[in-house]
Amino acid sequence: MRITVVGLGYVGLVSAAGLTTWNHDVVGLEVDRTRLDALARGETPLFEPGLDGLLEEATRTGRLRYTDSVESSVPQAQVVIIAVGTHDGSGGWQTETIRAALQAIVPAMAPDAVLTIRSTLPPEFVPEIVGLAHRLREEVGAERVPVLTNPEFTRESTAVADFLQPDRVVIGILDDPVGRGVRALKRVYRLVDAPILVLPAADAGMAKLGANLFLATKISFANELATLCEAFGADVDAVVHAMSFDPRIGGSFLRAGIGFGGSCLPNQVAMTIRSSREAGLPTPLLGAVDGVNRGQRVRFVDRMSRMLDGLAGRRVALLGLTFKPGTDDLRDAPALTIARDLIDLGADVVAYDPMPNARVRAAALVPGLQVVASVQAALADADAAGLLTEWPEFAALDWGSVRSLMRGTVVLDGRNALSPDAMQAAGFDYAGFGRRIPAAEPRSLAGRPAITSHDGDVLSEIASAATGAAAGKS
Ligand code: UGA
Repeated sequence: MRITVVGLGYVGLVSAAGLTTWNHDVVGLEVDRTRLDALARGETPLFEPGLDGLLEEATRTGRLRYTDSVESSVPQAQVVIIAVGTHDGSGGWQTETIRAALQAIVPAMAPDAVLTIRSTLPPEFVPEIVGLAHRLREEVGAERVPVLTNPEFTRESTAVADFLQPDRVVIGILDDPVGRGVRALKRVYRLVDAPILVLPAADAGMAKLGANLFLATKISFANELATLCEAFGADVDAVVHAMSFDPRIGGSFLRAGIGFGGSCLPNQVAMTIRSSREAGLPTPLLGAVDGVNRGQRVRFVDRMSRMLDGLAGRRVALLGLTFKPGTDDLRDAPALTIARDLIDLGADVVAYDPMPNARVRAAALVPGLQVVASVQAALADADAAGLLTEWPEFAALDWGSVRSLMRGTVVLDGRNALSPDAMQAAGFDYAGFGRRIPAAEPRSLAGRPAITSHDGDVLSEIASAATGAAAGKS
């Protein structure tokens, strides 16, 4: 089929390249010239494992081309997929991007084409789309086109595999009176070995949002469980492992630590709370999910401060800056909040991340943060190390040698990624989140100032409650 993908960010570019593997002829329409030029030179403008190879192959077979011209990409398309960004970058939705894309694209579509929105949408905006699309067709005297949604469930770092082997494909119907749109999208995905669920668009949108809200809830649950484990002398890894045998629970997304970051989970929790509040709907569970998550960042700083008996003048090495491994994305990365808070409390903070451009951007985003180009340079003479992103190379370090590199012995593992036994055997004063560390001594909280965070006052409350529960541990 001839498909035009509008917007070549994470979602659009992965979709465009992925669609070619199912023998579709795809045009990527992008207004950002820098991005287009990079693609034209054969460069991948974002870091996503496996995407280079996919783009190379798509270009080699001639199935994927890029353009910034609506005229040379939209009228020919049988299916137009809109994949522009809908997050405003500061915890809010933005729908201007979708409106602008519709205004540019819809009048130029062929009468037998199908319009599909793949971007994640605020639920309250969904009904507006049909009216806008129909009005834009009427203005140019053209017939209406079917309007559908097709939410994506790809994760950064595994986006290619998630696209090519999805668990499910969700098609949302906004306006498709004779089923032409659904038939077209089923043809788009005909080679996919996964259930294709056809739902009203409101349900499809909530199925997308609901999945992310549930994943966020699982993580905050695991973090609260970790706090309980600390208070009652249990080990969260063992507890979650035992729980995971129950097929109703499963074991994924229950890893405790400094909580979730990235452009999706934190934003979508926050934006759902905000739009529900505006609609007069209480969302106490999501409020707690957000509060626990933000509190984990404060708890990390608080725990580091306790382990070092104060942060002023202490050299702290942070290992990892990105919001998770396998990406160079720093959006709402817990590491940035933690670095700012440590610096505010007087620590001398030096950070390393394997992604060079993440290091450069982090240095620009966090005043006072020193970034270095090797993990050894970060750890040299450090009083403490804090692991914030579980890049495999950190677990693979020879921690025995690291011990002689560092000045101090404190290692705080914000992702529960290191072996407590091995760390203790190497001579470290090691702590994680919810992990039982037999030899760890309780530290006094007396006389320490309350920790405040860049993320707002509510956090110090959460942190002090959390610290109270955790005071006998780590
Ligand atoms: C998330 C969803 O997982 C995707 O299914 C969805 O398509 C995507 O958002 C989206 O809406 O576009 P992503 O933001 O790439 O994907 O990242 P995740 O893999 O979900 O991780 C989010 C955060 O949770 C990371 O900071 C990670 O470190 C943290 N996490 C994850 C935990 O703290 N504990 C866990 O057990 C799992």
